[in-house]
Amino acid sequence: MATGTLTTSTAVYFEHVSRYFVNPAKHIQVRALDDVDFGVSENAFTSIVGPSGCGKSTLLNLLAGLSFPQQGRVLFRGEPVTEVNTRVGYVTQDSNLLPWLTVAENVELPLEIRGVGRRERQERAREWIHRVGLAGFEDHYPHQLSGGMQKRCSIARTLVYDPEIILMDEPFGPLDAITRMVLQAELLRLWETRHKTILFVTHDLTEAIALSDQVVVMTRRPGRVKAIMDVPLERPRDVFHIQESSGFAAIHSQLWEVFHAEIEDPTHVGGE
Ligand SMILES: Nc1ncnc2c1ncn2[C@@H]1O[C@H](COP(=O)(O)OP(=O)(O)OP(=O)(O)O)[C@@H](O)[C@H]1O
Ligand SMILES: [Mg+2]
Repeated sequence: MATGTLTTSTAVYFEHVSRYFVNPAKHIQVRALDDVDFGVSENAFTSIVGPSGCGKSTLLNLLAGLSFPQQGRVLFRGEPVTEVNTRVGYVTQDSNLLPWLTVAENVELPLEIRGVGRRERQERAREWIHRVGLAGFEDHYPHQLSGGMQKRCSIARTLVYDPEIILMDEPFGPLDAITRMVLQAELLRLWETRHKTILFVTHDLTEAIALSDQVVVMTRRPGRVKAIMDVPLERPRDVFHIQESSGFAAIHSQLWEVFHAEIEDPTHVGGE
């Protein structure tokens, strides 16, 4: 669960984290995150929602060790993240596929890096390519795929090596409604059977509720934690009929109440 205290079951803790970006040429400072302080328990499914530009991707980048805070610390299983964090699997907001490799080669790459033998590599890649609905496209290059297909390839490339903690930045954003629900169901199955810890960024409140134990709502930039809401819907959940499940409407309206205040003034520019 997302909490405000650090315990032994805390997988990740953002401890009073602030991150700003400076453009030296223009002397502009953008405060992306301001004193963000929350933790995520082992095996919890946590979604992060907030207006565009509030620092959601920045938060995941800090946990992946691709960027570092100016204030505060990011703790991964109690240890500060001070370099690239290879223990997390990260589906970034852009699909980030290597353009010179085919779909199959892209998906096999993380296994190859980890020294998995050729036969097992091919087998596991084939399974995941099939799961994300890309069977038949194994030999295509990224530029020969649609945006949604690139996204699915990128999801397969991360999940294929079974990372302990999975970060996903709007992974299902460019997908059609049906594919999206199929992959949500697949992700929930993976999470439930393999006891993963997942941090999931989305703009879609229904998706956040369908998947999560907790939803962290961020303010508009500079991003702060506005609220952490529990989602006490029973599991396993049926993502195809989640809106009809008892309790959904109440949680959705509660979440919307907190969320909409942050987006109702789109002209607001905070943090500079
Ligand atoms: N490397 C960077 N250099 C300069 N500014 C950056 C950098 N990364 C992020 N920012 C700025 O930090 C702020 C937060 O960006 P971030 O990408 O984290 O937002 P976000 O919440 O993920 O938005 P979205 O929902 O649109 O993806 C933005 O104002 C962005 O311009
Ligand atoms: Mg983002």
